Amino acid sequence: MSAAANGDVTDIRGTLVSCRDDPFLTDPQRAFVHEPDGLVVCRGGTIEAVGPYASLKPSLPPHAVIADYSGCLIAPGFIDTHVHYVQTGMIGSQGRQLLDWLQRYTYPAELAFADPDVARKTAKLFCAELLRNGTTTALVFCSVHPQSVDALFEEAERHNMRLVAGKVLMDRNAPDGLRDTAQSGYDQSSALIAKWHGRGRARYAITPRFAGTSTPEQLAAAGALWRAHPDVHVQTHIAENRDEVAWMAELFPARSDYLDIYEHYGLVGRRTMLAHGIWLNESELCRCHQSGAALSHCPTSNFFLGSGLFGLRNAKSPRRPVAVGLGTDIGAGTSLSLLVTMGAAYQVSQLRSEPVDAIEAFFLATLGGARALALDDKIGSLAAGREADMVVLDPAATPLLAFRNARAQSIEDTLGVLMTLGDDRAVRATYVAGRIAHERAPVDR
Ligand code: GUN
Ligand code: ZN
Repeated sequence: MSAAANGDVTDIRGTLVSCRDDPFLTDPQRAFVHEPDGLVVCRGGTIEAVGPYASLKPSLPPHAVIADYSGCLIAPGFIDTHVHYVQTGMIGSQGRQLLDWLQRYTYPAELAFADPDVARKTAKLFCAELLRNGTTTALVFCSVHPQSVDALFEEAERHNMRLVAGKVLMDRNAPDGLRDTAQSGYDQSSALIAKWHGRGRARYAITPRFAGTSTPEQLAAAGALWRAHPDVHVQTHIAENRDEVAWMAELFPARSDYLDIYEHYGLVGRRTMLAHGIWLNESELCRCHQSGAALSHCPTSNFFLGSGLFGLRNAKSPRRPVAVGLGTDIGAGTSLSLLVTMGAAYQVSQLRSEPVDAIEAFFLATLGGARALALDDKIGSLAAGREADMVVLDPAATPLLAFRNARAQSIEDTLGVLMTLGDDRAVRATYVAGRIAHERAPVDR
Protein backbone atom coordinates (compact mmCIF):
# COMPACT_ATOMS: atom_id res chain seq x y z
CA MET A 1 0.00 0.00 0.00
CA SER A 2 1.28 3.46 -0.81
CA ALA A 3 1.66 6.03 1.94
CA ALA A 4 -1.01 8.08 0.25
CA ALA A 5 -3.46 5.18 0.33
CA ASN A 6 -2.98 4.48 4.04
CA GLY A 7 -5.08 7.20 5.59
CA ASP A 8 -3.78 7.08 9.14
CA VAL A 9 -0.08 7.33 8.42
CA THR A 10 1.21 9.81 5.91
CA ASP A 11 4.77 10.97 5.64
CA ILE A 12 5.48 13.40 2.86
CA ARG A 13 8.78 14.71 1.58
CA GLY A 14 9.47 17.90 -0.34
CA THR A 15 10.45 21.54 0.07
CA LEU A 16 8.56 22.86 3.09
CA VAL A 17 7.24 26.43 3.16
CA SER A 18 5.26 27.77 6.10
CA CYS A 19 4.83 30.86 8.26
CA ARG A 20 5.23 30.89 12.02
CA ASP A 21 4.46 34.59 12.40
CA ASP A 22 3.18 37.66 10.55
CA PRO A 23 5.73 39.07 8.07
CA PHE A 24 3.84 42.40 8.00
CA LEU A 25 4.62 42.84 11.69
CA THR A 26 7.83 40.92 12.38
CA ASP A 27 11.12 40.18 10.64
CA PRO A 28 10.12 38.20 7.50
CA GLN A 29 13.23 36.02 7.91
CA ARG A 30 11.86 34.90 11.25
CA ALA A 31 8.23 34.76 10.18
CA PHE A 32 8.79 32.46 7.20
CA VAL A 33 10.23 28.94 7.40
CA HIS A 34 11.77 27.20 4.41
CA GLU A 35 13.17 23.66 4.56
CA PRO A 36 14.64 22.70 1.15
CA ASP A 37 14.47 18.94 1.79
CA GLY A 38 11.89 18.41 4.48
CA LEU A 39 9.58 15.77 5.87
CA VAL A 40 6.11 16.13 7.37
CA VAL A 41 5.13 13.18 9.56
CA CYS A 42 1.36 12.80 10.05
CA ARG A 43 -0.51 10.46 12.38
CA GLY A 44 -4.27 10.22 12.71
CA GLY A 45 -4.86 13.42 10.77
CA THR A 46 -2.44 15.52 12.80
CA ILE A 47 1.08 16.68 12.07
CA GLU A 48 3.37 14.82 14.45
CA ALA A 49 6.74 16.18 13.34
CA VAL A 50 8.17 18.57 10.76
CA GLY A 51 11.82 19.02 9.92
CA PRO A 52 14.73 18.22 7.64
CA TYR A 53 14.32 14.85 5.92
CA ALA A 54 17.81 13.76 6.96
CA SER A 55 17.16 14.27 10.64
CA LEU A 56 13.59 12.87 10.78
CA LYS A 57 13.97 9.84 8.51
CA PRO A 58 15.87 7.75 11.11
CA SER A 59 12.97 8.14 13.55
CA LEU A 60 10.48 6.50 11.13
CA PRO A 61 9.75 2.76 11.23
CA PRO A 62 12.11 0.92 8.83
CA HIS A 63 9.40 0.14 6.26
CA ALA A 64 7.62 3.51 6.38
CA VAL A 65 6.36 4.47 2.95
CA ILE A 66 7.05 8.10 2.16
CA ALA A 67 5.11 10.07 -0.47
CA ASP A 68 8.03 11.71 -2.21
CA TYR A 69 7.30 15.12 -3.73
CA SER A 70 10.93 16.16 -4.10
CA GLY A 71 11.04 19.17 -6.44
CA CYS A 72 7.63 20.35 -5.20
CA LEU A 73 6.71 22.72 -2.39
CA ILE A 74 4.65 21.49 0.56
CA ALA A 75 2.61 24.25 2.19
CA PRO A 76 -0.26 24.44 4.65
CA GLY A 77 -3.59 24.05 2.84
CA PHE A 78 -4.87 27.37 1.52
CA ILE A 79 -7.60 29.22 3.42
CA ASP A 80 -10.33 31.13 1.58
CA THR A 81 -11.85 33.60 4.05
CA HIS A 82 -14.77 34.70 1.88
CA VAL A 83 -16.67 32.78 -0.81
CA HIS A 84 -20.30 32.16 -1.86
CA TYR A 85 -20.70 28.55 -2.99
CA VAL A 86 -24.22 29.36 -4.23
CA GLN A 87 -22.72 31.74 -6.79
CA THR A 88 -20.53 29.11 -8.46
CA GLY A 89 -22.90 28.99 -11.42
CA MET A 90 -22.84 32.74 -12.12
CA ILE A 91 -19.13 33.58 -12.20
CA GLY A 92 -18.33 36.14 -14.89
CA SER A 93 -21.75 37.85 -15.01
CA GLN A 94 -20.56 41.13 -16.44
CA GLY A 95 -21.49 44.73 -16.83
CA ARG A 96 -22.72 45.97 -13.45
CA GLN A 97 -21.35 47.18 -10.14
CA LEU A 98 -22.31 45.71 -6.78
CA LEU A 99 -25.88 46.83 -6.10
CA ASP A 100 -27.11 46.29 -9.68
CA TRP A 101 -25.13 43.06 -9.97
CA LEU A 102 -26.85 41.68 -6.85
CA GLN A 103 -30.33 42.42 -8.21
CA ARG A 104 -29.72 41.38 -11.76
CA TYR A 105 -27.65 38.22 -11.40
CA THR A 106 -26.99 37.19 -7.82
CA TYR A 107 -30.43 37.01 -6.25
CA PRO A 108 -31.94 35.13 -9.21
CA ALA A 109 -29.07 32.62 -9.04
CA GLU A 110 -29.52 32.09 -5.31
CA LEU A 111 -33.28 31.49 -5.68
CA ALA A 112 -32.47 28.13 -7.27
CA PHE A 113 -31.09 26.86 -3.94
CA ALA A 114 -34.59 26.31 -2.62
CA ASP A 115 -34.14 23.00 -4.49
CA PRO A 116 -31.98 20.63 -2.41
CA ASP A 117 -30.89 18.86 -5.58
CA VAL A 118 -29.38 22.08 -6.98
CA ALA A 119 -27.70 22.63 -3.62
CA ARG A 120 -26.24 19.11 -3.50
CA LYS A 121 -24.90 19.19 -7.05
CA THR A 122 -23.36 22.63 -6.58
CA ALA A 123 -21.85 21.70 -3.19
CA LYS A 124 -20.26 18.62 -4.76
CA LEU A 125 -18.63 20.60 -7.55
CA PHE A 126 -17.65 23.43 -5.19
CA CYS A 127 -15.85 21.20 -2.67
CA ALA A 128 -14.08 19.33 -5.46
CA GLU A 129 -12.95 22.66 -6.93
CA LEU A 130 -11.66 23.85 -3.56
CA LEU A 131 -9.56 20.71 -3.29
CA ARG A 132 -8.32 20.97 -6.90
CA ASN A 133 -7.11 24.44 -6.00
CA GLY A 134 -5.39 23.36 -2.79
CA THR A 135 -7.93 25.08 -0.55
CA THR A 136 -8.65 23.04 2.56
CA THR A 137 -10.62 25.57 4.61
CA ALA A 138 -13.16 28.16 3.49
CA LEU A 139 -15.57 30.52 5.20
CA VAL A 140 -18.65 30.17 3.03
CA PHE A 141 -21.91 32.00 2.43
CA CYS A 142 -24.77 29.66 1.60
CA SER A 143 -28.18 31.00 0.49
CA VAL A 144 -31.16 31.96 2.65
CA HIS A 145 -32.38 28.35 2.44
CA PRO A 146 -31.32 26.07 5.32
CA GLN A 147 -31.13 23.14 2.88
CA SER A 148 -28.27 24.91 1.11
CA VAL A 149 -26.29 24.74 4.37
CA ASP A 150 -27.06 21.07 4.91
CA ALA A 151 -25.93 20.26 1.37
CA LEU A 152 -22.59 22.02 1.83
CA PHE A 153 -21.78 20.59 5.25
CA GLU A 154 -22.79 17.09 4.11
CA GLU A 155 -20.40 17.31 1.17
CA ALA A 156 -17.59 18.83 3.28
CA GLU A 157 -18.06 16.03 5.80
CA ARG A 158 -17.50 13.49 3.04
CA HIS A 159 -14.06 15.04 2.49
CA ASN A 160 -13.48 15.69 6.21
CA MET A 161 -12.81 19.36 5.37
CA ARG A 162 -12.64 22.10 7.98
CA LEU A 163 -15.35 24.35 6.58
CA VAL A 164 -17.07 27.29 8.25
CA ALA A 165 -20.43 28.25 6.74
CA GLY A 166 -23.82 29.71 7.42
CA LYS A 167 -27.31 30.41 6.16
CA VAL A 168 -27.70 33.91 4.79
CA LEU A 169 -29.99 36.15 6.81
CA MET A 170 -31.92 38.62 4.63
CA ASP A 171 -35.37 39.97 5.39
CA ARG A 172 -35.63 43.06 3.18
CA ASN A 173 -34.61 44.56 -0.17
CA ALA A 174 -34.56 41.16 -1.85
CA PRO A 175 -37.03 39.33 -4.09
CA ASP A 176 -39.84 37.05 -2.97
CA GLY A 177 -38.54 33.60 -2.19
CA LEU A 178 -35.23 34.94 -0.96
CA ARG A 179 -36.29 36.58 2.30
CA ASP A 180 -36.63 35.12 5.76
CA THR A 181 -37.86 37.05 8.81
CA ALA A 182 -36.05 38.10 11.96
CA GLN A 183 -37.69 35.19 13.78
CA SER A 184 -37.42 32.48 11.10
CA GLY A 185 -33.81 33.45 10.37
CA TYR A 186 -33.01 33.17 14.07
CA ASP A 187 -34.76 29.83 14.46
CA GLN A 188 -33.27 28.29 11.32
CA SER A 189 -29.75 29.46 12.20
CA SER A 190 -30.15 28.20 15.72
CA ALA A 191 -31.19 24.75 14.45
CA LEU A 192 -28.24 24.68 12.03
CA ILE A 193 -25.82 25.57 14.84
CA ALA A 194 -27.21 22.70 16.92
CA LYS A 195 -26.90 20.33 13.97
CA TRP A 196 -23.51 21.32 12.54
CA HIS A 197 -21.30 23.47 14.76
CA GLY A 198 -18.54 21.25 16.10
CA ARG A 199 -19.74 18.15 14.22
CA GLY A 200 -16.49 16.68 12.87
CA ARG A 201 -14.56 19.62 11.50
CA ALA A 202 -17.59 21.80 10.66
CA ARG A 203 -18.09 25.21 12.25
CA TYR A 204 -21.02 27.59 11.92
CA ALA A 205 -21.05 31.27 10.97
CA ILE A 206 -24.01 33.57 11.65
CA THR A 207 -24.40 35.22 8.24
CA PRO A 208 -26.32 38.49 7.85
CA ARG A 209 -25.70 39.20 4.16
CA PHE A 210 -25.06 42.92 4.77
CA ALA A 211 -26.87 45.73 6.52
CA GLY A 212 -28.75 46.56 3.31
CA THR A 213 -30.74 43.31 3.33
CA SER A 214 -31.45 42.98 7.06
CA THR A 215 -33.89 45.04 9.10
CA PRO A 216 -32.73 46.40 12.45
CA GLU A 217 -34.85 43.64 14.02
CA GLN A 218 -32.97 40.95 12.12
CA LEU A 219 -29.55 42.40 13.00
CA ALA A 220 -30.62 42.52 16.65
CA ALA A 221 -31.72 38.87 16.45
CA ALA A 222 -28.37 37.92 14.87
CA GLY A 223 -26.56 39.66 17.74
CA ALA A 224 -28.73 37.83 20.29
CA LEU A 225 -27.95 34.53 18.55
CA TRP A 226 -24.22 35.22 18.81
CA ARG A 227 -24.54 36.02 22.51
CA ALA A 228 -26.29 32.66 22.93
CA HIS A 229 -23.52 30.88 20.96
CA PRO A 230 -20.34 32.93 21.42
CA ASP A 231 -18.14 30.16 20.01
CA VAL A 232 -19.56 30.42 16.45
CA HIS A 233 -18.35 32.85 13.78
CA VAL A 234 -20.04 35.89 12.24
CA GLN A 235 -19.59 36.85 8.59
CA THR A 236 -20.96 39.72 6.55
CA HIS A 237 -19.96 42.36 3.98
CA ILE A 238 -18.77 45.89 4.69
CA ALA A 239 -17.70 48.99 2.75
CA GLU A 240 -17.21 47.23 -0.59
CA ASN A 241 -18.63 49.85 -2.93
CA ARG A 242 -19.14 53.60 -2.59
CA ASP A 243 -22.84 53.54 -3.52
CA GLU A 244 -23.34 50.76 -0.97
CA VAL A 245 -21.68 52.86 1.78
CA ALA A 246 -23.92 55.86 0.91
CA TRP A 247 -27.01 53.60 0.98
CA MET A 248 -26.13 52.29 4.46
CA ALA A 249 -25.88 55.87 5.74
CA GLU A 250 -29.44 56.44 4.44
CA LEU A 251 -30.77 53.21 5.94
CA PHE A 252 -29.16 53.71 9.36
CA PRO A 253 -28.94 57.51 9.88
CA ALA A 254 -28.39 57.17 13.63
CA ARG A 255 -25.19 55.17 13.22
CA SER A 256 -21.88 57.01 12.98
CA ASP A 257 -20.43 54.85 10.18
CA TYR A 258 -20.85 51.44 8.53
CA LEU A 259 -19.04 49.44 11.21
CA ASP A 260 -21.13 51.13 13.89
CA ILE A 261 -24.21 49.41 12.43
CA TYR A 262 -22.74 45.98 13.12
CA GLU A 263 -21.25 47.10 16.45
CA HIS A 264 -24.60 48.46 17.58
CA TYR A 265 -26.21 45.06 17.09
CA GLY A 266 -23.42 43.14 18.82
CA LEU A 267 -21.94 41.57 15.70
CA VAL A 268 -18.31 42.73 15.90
CA GLY A 269 -15.58 40.89 17.78
CA ARG A 270 -13.14 38.02 17.56
CA ARG A 271 -14.40 35.52 14.93
CA THR A 272 -16.17 38.27 12.95
CA MET A 273 -15.13 38.29 9.28
CA LEU A 274 -15.96 41.45 7.35
CA ALA A 275 -15.60 41.01 3.59
CA HIS A 276 -13.97 43.75 1.50
CA GLY A 277 -13.63 46.81 3.80
CA ILE A 278 -12.18 48.90 0.97
CA TRP A 279 -13.88 52.12 2.09
CA LEU A 280 -13.48 51.82 5.87
CA ASN A 281 -12.24 54.97 7.60
CA GLU A 282 -9.42 55.20 10.13
CA SER A 283 -11.74 55.02 13.11
CA GLU A 284 -13.36 51.85 11.75
CA LEU A 285 -9.96 50.22 11.20
CA CYS A 286 -8.95 51.15 14.78
CA ARG A 287 -12.12 49.57 16.11
CA CYS A 288 -11.53 46.39 14.06
CA HIS A 289 -8.07 46.21 15.62
CA GLN A 290 -9.43 46.71 19.12
CA SER A 291 -12.26 44.20 18.80
CA GLY A 292 -10.28 41.54 16.93
CA ALA A 293 -12.65 41.57 13.94
CA ALA A 294 -10.95 40.54 10.69
CA LEU A 295 -11.16 41.70 7.09
CA SER A 296 -11.25 39.50 4.01
CA HIS A 297 -9.34 41.01 1.10
CA CYS A 298 -11.03 39.92 -2.15
CA PRO A 299 -8.91 41.36 -4.96
CA THR A 300 -10.30 39.51 -7.99
CA SER A 301 -13.84 40.43 -6.96
CA ASN A 302 -12.88 44.04 -6.34
CA PHE A 303 -11.39 44.19 -9.85
CA PHE A 304 -14.39 42.47 -11.43
CA LEU A 305 -17.04 44.68 -9.83
CA GLY A 306 -14.87 47.80 -10.05
CA SER A 307 -15.23 48.18 -6.28
CA GLY A 308 -11.85 49.73 -5.55
CA LEU A 309 -8.28 49.04 -4.44
CA PHE A 310 -8.08 47.73 -0.86
CA GLY A 311 -5.35 49.40 1.22
CA LEU A 312 -3.78 46.24 2.58
CA ARG A 313 -0.70 47.91 4.03
CA ASN A 314 -2.80 50.50 5.78
CA ALA A 315 -5.05 47.79 7.26
CA LYS A 316 -1.97 45.90 8.44
CA SER A 317 -0.22 49.00 9.80
CA PRO A 318 1.80 48.04 12.91
CA ARG A 319 0.19 51.05 14.67
CA ARG A 320 -3.13 49.16 14.83
CA PRO A 321 -2.90 46.01 12.75
CA VAL A 322 -6.16 44.45 11.62
CA ALA A 323 -6.23 40.70 10.94
CA VAL A 324 -6.60 40.13 7.18
CA GLY A 325 -7.17 36.99 5.14
CA LEU A 326 -7.71 36.48 1.40
CA GLY A 327 -11.10 35.76 -0.13
CA THR A 328 -11.95 34.57 -3.62
CA ASP A 329 -15.52 35.91 -3.27
CA ILE A 330 -16.89 33.71 -6.03
CA GLY A 331 -19.18 34.62 -7.92
CA ALA A 332 -17.97 38.25 -8.03
CA GLY A 333 -14.45 36.90 -7.81
CA THR A 334 -12.99 35.38 -10.94
CA SER A 335 -11.05 32.39 -9.61
CA LEU A 336 -11.27 29.84 -6.81
CA SER A 337 -7.46 29.65 -6.81
CA LEU A 338 -5.69 31.26 -3.86
CA LEU A 339 -2.55 31.36 -6.06
CA VAL A 340 -4.43 33.58 -8.52
CA THR A 341 -5.86 35.58 -5.61
CA MET A 342 -2.36 36.16 -4.18
CA GLY A 343 -1.26 37.35 -7.62
CA ALA A 344 -4.23 39.73 -7.77
CA ALA A 345 -3.41 41.05 -4.27
CA TYR A 346 0.06 41.80 -5.58
CA GLN A 347 -1.37 43.70 -8.56
CA VAL A 348 -3.67 45.79 -6.34
CA SER A 349 -0.75 46.62 -4.08
CA GLN A 350 1.27 47.75 -7.11
CA LEU A 351 -1.57 50.00 -8.28
CA ARG A 352 -1.47 51.57 -4.81
CA SER A 353 2.36 51.91 -4.98
CA GLU A 354 2.77 49.79 -1.87
CA PRO A 355 3.77 46.35 -3.18
CA VAL A 356 3.40 43.29 -1.01
CA ASP A 357 6.05 40.63 -1.38
CA ALA A 358 5.53 36.93 -2.04
CA ILE A 359 6.05 35.95 1.61
CA GLU A 360 3.43 38.46 2.74
CA ALA A 361 0.93 37.22 0.15
CA PHE A 362 1.66 33.60 1.09
CA PHE A 363 1.07 34.47 4.76
CA LEU A 364 -2.37 35.92 3.93
CA ALA A 365 -3.40 32.69 2.19
CA THR A 366 -2.22 30.44 5.06
CA LEU A 367 -1.45 31.52 8.62
CA GLY A 368 -2.94 34.99 8.11
CA GLY A 369 -6.25 33.45 7.07
CA ALA A 370 -6.13 31.04 10.01
CA ARG A 371 -5.50 33.91 12.43
CA ALA A 372 -8.27 35.96 10.87
CA LEU A 373 -10.62 33.03 11.52
CA ALA A 374 -9.18 32.46 15.02
CA LEU A 375 -8.32 28.92 13.95
CA ASP A 376 -4.53 29.25 13.97
CA ASP A 377 -4.23 26.73 16.80
CA LYS A 378 -5.60 24.15 14.34
CA ILE A 379 -4.64 25.13 10.78
CA GLY A 380 -2.50 27.49 8.73
CA SER A 381 1.02 26.23 9.42
CA LEU A 382 3.19 23.16 9.13
CA ALA A 383 3.88 22.52 12.79
CA ALA A 384 3.58 19.61 15.21
CA GLY A 385 0.08 19.46 16.67
CA ARG A 386 -1.65 21.20 13.75
CA GLU A 387 -4.19 19.40 11.60
CA ALA A 388 -2.51 17.84 8.56
CA ASP A 389 -4.13 19.95 5.82
CA MET A 390 -1.54 20.53 3.10
CA VAL A 391 -1.11 21.56 -0.50
CA VAL A 392 1.70 20.27 -2.72
CA LEU A 393 2.69 22.83 -5.36
CA ASP A 394 4.63 21.93 -8.49
CA PRO A 395 6.83 24.84 -9.57
CA ALA A 396 7.25 23.16 -12.96
CA ALA A 397 3.59 22.25 -13.54
CA THR A 398 3.40 23.87 -16.98
CA PRO A 399 6.10 24.41 -19.61
CA LEU A 400 6.15 28.13 -18.87
CA LEU A 401 6.33 27.62 -15.09
CA ALA A 402 9.16 25.13 -15.59
CA PHE A 403 11.06 27.49 -17.92
CA ARG A 404 10.69 30.45 -15.57
CA ASN A 405 11.28 28.62 -12.30
CA ALA A 406 14.45 27.02 -13.65
CA ARG A 407 15.80 30.57 -13.40
CA ALA A 408 14.36 31.30 -9.93
CA GLN A 409 16.82 33.07 -7.68
CA SER A 410 15.32 32.14 -4.33
CA ILE A 411 12.31 30.51 -2.67
CA GLU A 412 10.65 33.94 -2.55
CA ASP A 413 11.15 34.19 -6.30
CA THR A 414 9.62 30.73 -6.85
CA LEU A 415 6.59 31.64 -4.73
CA GLY A 416 6.19 34.93 -6.60
CA VAL A 417 6.27 33.10 -9.93
CA LEU A 418 3.67 30.57 -8.71
CA MET A 419 1.40 33.49 -7.77
CA THR A 420 1.92 35.05 -11.19
CA LEU A 421 1.68 32.03 -13.50
CA GLY A 422 0.10 29.39 -11.27
CA ASP A 423 -3.46 28.22 -10.72
CA ASP A 424 -5.10 24.82 -10.17
CA ARG A 425 -2.61 23.27 -12.60
CA ALA A 426 0.18 23.97 -10.11
CA VAL A 427 -1.59 22.00 -7.37
CA ARG A 428 0.02 18.58 -7.55
CA ALA A 429 -1.83 17.23 -4.50
CA THR A 430 -4.06 18.27 -1.63
CA TYR A 431 -4.11 16.54 1.75
CA VAL A 432 -7.01 16.87 4.16
CA ALA A 433 -6.35 15.75 7.74
CA GLY A 434 -3.46 13.63 6.52
CA ARG A 435 -5.36 11.90 3.73
CA ILE A 436 -4.89 12.55 0.05
CA ALA A 437 -7.98 14.36 -1.25
CA HIS A 438 -6.80 15.41 -4.72
CA GLU A 439 -3.87 14.41 -6.89
CA ARG A 440 -2.76 15.35 -10.40
CA ALA A 441 -0.57 13.16 -12.49
CA PRO A 442 3.03 14.42 -12.30
CA VAL A 443 4.29 16.11 -15.45
CA ASP A 444 7.25 14.67 -17.34
CA ARG A 445 10.39 16.59 -16.58
N1 GUN B 1 -22.70 42.37 -0.66
C1 GUN B 1 -23.87 41.80 -0.29
N2 GUN B 1 -24.02 40.60 -0.89
C2 GUN B 1 -22.94 40.41 -1.65
C3 GUN B 1 -22.52 39.34 -2.51
O1 GUN B 1 -23.19 38.34 -2.70
N3 GUN B 1 -21.33 39.52 -3.14
C4 GUN B 1 -20.55 40.61 -2.95
N4 GUN B 1 -19.39 40.70 -3.59
N5 GUN B 1 -20.92 41.62 -2.15
C5 GUN B 1 -22.10 41.51 -1.52
ZN1 ZN C 1 -19.15 38.28 -0.89
